[in-house]
Amino acid sequence: NEPVITVIGSINMDLVTESDMRPKAGETLLGSHFSMIPGGKGANQAVAAARLGAKVNMIGCVGDDLFGEQLTANLKKEGIAADYVEPVTHQQTGIAAITLAEGDNSIIVVPGANHDLSADHISKFEALIAESDVVLLQLEIPLEAVVKAAELAKKHRVKVVLNPAPIQGLPDQLINSADLITPNEHEYDQLKRDYQGDLQVLKNKLVVTKGGAGTAIFKNGKETIVPGYAISVVDTTGAGDAFNGALAVQVAKGASLEEACRSANAVGALAVTKLGAQSGMPTADEVEAFLKKGV
Ligand code: RIB
Ligand code: NA
Repeated sequence: NEPVITVIGSINMDLVTESDMRPKAGETLLGSHFSMIPGGKGANQAVAAARLGAKVNMIGCVGDDLFGEQLTANLKKEGIAADYVEPVTHQQTGIAAITLAEGDNSIIVVPGANHDLSADHISKFEALIAESDVVLLQLEIPLEAVVKAAELAKKHRVKVVLNPAPIQGLPDQLINSADLITPNEHEYDQLKRDYQGDLQVLKNKLVVTKGGAGTAIFKNGKETIVPGYAISVVDTTGAGDAFNGALAVQVAKGASLEEACRSANAVGALAVTKLGAQSGMPTADEVEAFLKKGV
């Protein structure tokens, strides 16, 4: 039986420009390439999980426009159940303006229709949530929708994986309903600062991603590092999403947290070797071949 993952989150068109340098204020530069690549943390994580063989449902909002149509069609092409993606009329599909320069990305996200996903909207999908093995959440949609989704999942004893990106102040209630929380180091700092509850409770749910260095997990308060992989970086956009999609699949399959992180580290590593967020997500076969090489 394939694991069932329901992703509730953002869907963006990534408008990617590549240039040697990034422009300073008031400056115009010539770039070398431009691509439009499906993105958005929610949709990226959905594609990552689907390519690894999970049955994936995607709940989200797009605009009633060309990008919305293209992105929804793309999700379906990936085998994702995307009938729960709703086109809204008064907002544009979310976009991310991404600059790849000087070996790193910089991103401006305009959420548009993603911000129309309400708690009421999520409530309509309670049955779908209840039938899932894992509900996978990020923070590019309104917080009330994320909180509602986590609450419904918890009600039905469905596991919740929360990727707290982009980081913002979170109600303790949300942290308490999550089974796993996957910040990077900077997001972890803010989480720790904001959380009012018992830090030990937070730590036991944490998977802290450290890029190529791997992931930190905590067993009874003691930090263990699950090592990452040294690879040549082409584009880190969506690396975290690759990791989260893969982690959700492993958790749904009942893998141990260490095992799950090892596999998710490999998926994240493979994702950065290719341009683009969704375009760079590896398949289950590619991951298997990579792990066999014993890199
Ligand atoms: O995590 C990467 C994603 O963040 C990009 O695809 C972009 O759409 C932004 O939402
Ligand atoms: Na990539």
